[in-house]
Amino acid sequence: MGKLKIGVIGAGSISDMHLQSYQKNERAELYAICDKNTVRAEEKANKYGAARVYGDYRSLLADQDIDAVSICTWNHSHAEIAIAALKAGKHVLVEKPLSTTVAEAKQIEETVKQTGKILQVGFVRRYASNTAILKDFIDADEIGEIYYAKASCIRKLGNPGGWFSDIERSGGGPLIDLGVHVIDICWYLMGKPRVKSISGNTYSKLGNRSNIKNLSFYKAADYNPEINTVEDMANALIRFENGASLMVDVSFTLHAKQNEISIKLYGEKGGLEVEPELSLITEKYNTILNMTPQVDSLTFDFEQGFQNEMDHFVLACLGETETLSPVEDGLEMMKILCGIYESSEKGMEISFD
Ligand SMILES: NC(=O)c1ccc[n+]([C@@H]2O[C@H](COP(=O)([O-])OP(=O)(O)OC[C@H]3O[C@@H](n4cnc5c(N)ncnc54)[C@H](O)[C@@H]3O)[C@@H](O)[C@H]2O)c1
Repeated sequence: MGKLKIGVIGAGSISDMHLQSYQKNERAELYAICDKNTVRAEEKANKYGAARVYGDYRSLLADQDIDAVSICTWNHSHAEIAIAALKAGKHVLVEKPLSTTVAEAKQIEETVKQTGKILQVGFVRRYASNTAILKDFIDADEIGEIYYAKASCIRKLGNPGGWFSDIERSGGGPLIDLGVHVIDICWYLMGKPRVKSISGNTYSKLGNRSNIKNLSFYKAADYNPEINTVEDMANALIRFENGASLMVDVSFTLHAKQNEISIKLYGEKGGLEVEPELSLITEKYNTILNMTPQVDSLTFDFEQGFQNEMDHFVLACLGETETLSPVEDGLEMMKILCGIYESSEKGMEISFD
């Protein structure tokens, strides 16, 4: 059987993770790269050995040789490109977030149903080996019912600028960029309960703080401090139909002493810490135990996570497995993210039927 021919659309920062992972996958052939910045696309094609380069995604999709695509473009173009790709008969891996609105996410879901093609959402943390370890404990009922989770992803200074801080292209700030990962991994490990109500707050108090000196932070390639139309920070309390709840806070900037990533889940029989370090908490013979697994990395291994994600996508396209992050999960996450923005705008809790 021939190799799965892959096209990657969007050749910016995160594309490297997709490109190098496909390059290392023996069942896939990295075949084409597209970016509206064709110089960037050509550079990446040379670096990773892709045969074809396109400046317009429609031309790439018209290429009959391509079986599947990764979409690594700005958030607001995900829906348009994903729908066009599915209609062109391609399997799709779309970076998170699935879209920037719930309506778009529903259209994508509808197109997946119509075409019967695979769509995987780039919830890379689901593919981390540490997540698989915790999933084994949860599935074996070692943790019991998880009724509370708490996630933080706080940057004291780190608004990347460029498209990230332009709401037209990003759909939002730290909530849609960082919150999507930490909310999703909690929701996934909680067993994907249906959301019942959301109370959220967003703040735009500090701006991008481009005045700060002597402290470096990640900036988008097209960094421009003049553009900043997204929130600085967001928090939310999410209630689920099964009674469980999730508390989350995220920021691009905050008067915080240090950056923080923390993802913790609490069940009736035990607790789990995904970040800052893998850990399990339980009780045995009237004693509370903290358990540290002996594994290669106690925190998220970025490169391994992406390799696992692409390997899984390739196998799903070849019909040998099912994706761990299907379109309906991408849609649920858009309901949650947009629900937080809506609750904040209205200044009140919002409910789902
Ligand atoms: N999974 C993760 O951990 C993770 C991390 C970073 C970014 N992302 C996601 O990946 C996507 C890209 O982020 P990035 O940091 O690589 O951004 P980036 O700006 O570095 O790269 C995006 C590239 O897409 C190109 N592009 C934009 N619209 C296009 C279009 N319509 N047709 C062709 N090319 C187009 C741009 O020219 C640019 O080169 C975003 O959706 C982001 O949320 C995911």
